[in-house]
Amino acid sequence: MDWTLLILLVVPTVVHGNPTVTVRTGSGPPVGSDQHPNSVPLSEDTQTTTEVREVVVEEVMMTGVLNPSHYPARRAATVVQHYLNTRYGSPYRWIFLSKVHSGSAEDVAEMRKYQLELTMQEIISNVSGQCSAELLFPGGEGQSAPQVQASCEGLLQSNTTAQEEAFYQQHRASNNMVSGNDIPDSYGHMEPNMKPFWHLGGVASSFIMLRESNESTLYNMAQVANFTQLETEKDQLRFNYHVLLHEMISQEIIHWKLLVTWSPEQGVQVLQTELQPKCHNCEAPPNTTN
Ligand SMILES: *[C@@H]1O[C@H](CO)[C@@H](O)[C@H](O)[C@H]1NC(C)=O
Ligand SMILES: *[C@@H]1O[C@H](CO)[C@@H](O)[C@H](O)[C@H]1NC(C)=O
Ligand SMILES: *[C@@H]1O[C@H](CO)[C@@H](O)[C@H](O)[C@H]1NC(C)=O
Ligand SMILES: *[C@@H]1O[C@H](CO)[C@@H](O)[C@H](O)[C@H]1NC(C)=O
Repeated sequence: MDWTLLILLVVPTVVHGNPTVTVRTGSGPPVGSDQHPNSVPLSEDTQTTTEVREVVVEEVMMTGVLNPSHYPARRAATVVQHYLNTRYGSPYRWIFLSKVHSGSAEDVAEMRKYQLELTMQEIISNVSGQCSAELLFPGGEGQSAPQVQASCEGLLQSNTTAQEEAFYQQHRASNNMVSGNDIPDSYGHMEPNMKPFWHLGGVASSFIMLRESNESTLYNMAQVANFTQLETEKDQLRFNYHVLLHEMISQEIIHWKLLVTWSPEQGVQVLQTELQPKCHNCEAPPNTTN
């Protein structure tokens, strides 16, 4: 990384740039001219130039008022989704981002702070709610999880007590251990009795996706490759899960093994996580959410 070059490019942005105006590239189609405001003719090796420009684009886009449909706001909003699932998820409650209404970001000390107004949707009952969220991405080297605070209205209205209790009682006595694989299969199908296990796998994956997320990632749970029920311990249903996560920026499929527990009282807990070696020739599984 050529730091001098980076600084030279950043400085004119700070002096002349208006972040709300230059927030424009991101994921959406560019508006206005093709010429990026920061593009400076550089005669050196093109690869380096491109790389440096991308860094600058990110710097420009990521503070000030954010375009709700562009990546920086959507990435941050997806982290809120994972956070809500770690707090409230269950085999019968799985929360997804429905809409980003507004967002802004600012640099605070070593961190970047996002404020977001969102609509979230619980996809099993199809109840939606409005959320205000604040999240902090720690800066510096070394990955540490973003910190999230969120308050939502209406999202948890669905009363899933009866379904959860029935599911719990059905699987608690471990004389008929359940297991499954390829949920959903390559056609996007799954047996109805596998759905709660797919939801649970998705909620459990949110624990990893929350922890692994940073400002450059966008994770999604793609498939439960397989799961196996283990002996119930201390009134907690226990499962080994092997899940496939899709990192949508790099288009990588990432395999994780998880030890997951659940009971209506304790909720979902992820006791162990184990990143699996990179798999080659892996195809992106179907992108289904229910
Ligand atoms: C879910 O709710 C939204 C409104 O919140 C509605 O537009 C949509 O049709 C509903 N979907 C289903 C499957 O009921
Ligand atoms: C949910 O329904 C159960 C009965 O199925 C009831 O006992 C419980 O009080 C309800 N909870 C809420 C928050 O409405
Ligand atoms: C974000 O996470 C990805 C995947 O773990 C990693 O490759 C990348 O270096 C991280 N970026 C930052 C800015 O920490
Ligand atoms: C689960 O799926 C993974 C990935 O396809 C595979 O490597 C592993 O052997 C499977 N485990 C079981 C218990 O079937």
